[in-house]
Amino acid sequence: MSWRRYCAHAPDTKVAGAAFARVLRPGDVVLLIGQLGAGKTTFTQGVALGLGVRDRVTSPTFTMVRQHECSNDLGITTLHHADVYRVESLAEVRDLDLGELVEESGVALVEWGDLAAAIYGPDVLRVAFILDESDGRTLVVDGARSEDRRDELDAWASA
Ligand SMILES: Nc1ncnc2c1ncn2[C@@H]1O[C@H](COP(=O)(O)OP(=O)(O)OP(=O)(O)O)[C@@H](O)[C@H]1O
Ligand SMILES: [Mg+2]
Repeated sequence: MSWRRYCAHAPDTKVAGAAFARVLRPGDVVLLIGQLGAGKTTFTQGVALGLGVRDRVTSPTFTMVRQHECSNDLGITTLHHADVYRVESLAEVRDLDLGELVEESGVALVEWGDLAAAIYGPDVLRVAFILDESDGRTLVVDGARSEDRRDELDAWASA
């Protein structure tokens, strides 16, 4: 099962991210999948808004993972924002231990998550970004963890 939401412009992708925060639960790992400039960071900035992050969210490309403190009623206290585009080996990703970190009421969003899918296993949410010729993005959500979020994802997809 998968859910789609069309985002014609960058601000729509941000709004889609903010709404996606309502889908998330503590402990979630979300793999963001899409080419360079697909909108992964833009989406994450929206999620951060939805989670009540106050600091500015930028691409963590050179640091690989950044932590942002959250303030929300979802029980999510930390947003871990990773970008594994430049990793040289899966061991590097494994060392980040995102799976462990999120257990303490966090969530992790991983840009280029498909490169490290083997580390996280099937128990994740996945958001794929599909580009069209007119700058639009179709966001497609699936993954084993989406199955127990059907109501939330129905609401997200129908906005
Ligand atoms: N519908 C859209 N949704 C998202 N971004 C859009 C859209 N239309 C145009 N853009 C532009 O595309 C770019 C997306 O950049 P962003 O940094 O979010 O992508 P990214 O997937 O994180 O890239 P990278 O792989 O380099 O990390 C921005 O410049 C944004 O303004
Ligand atoms: Mg990015």
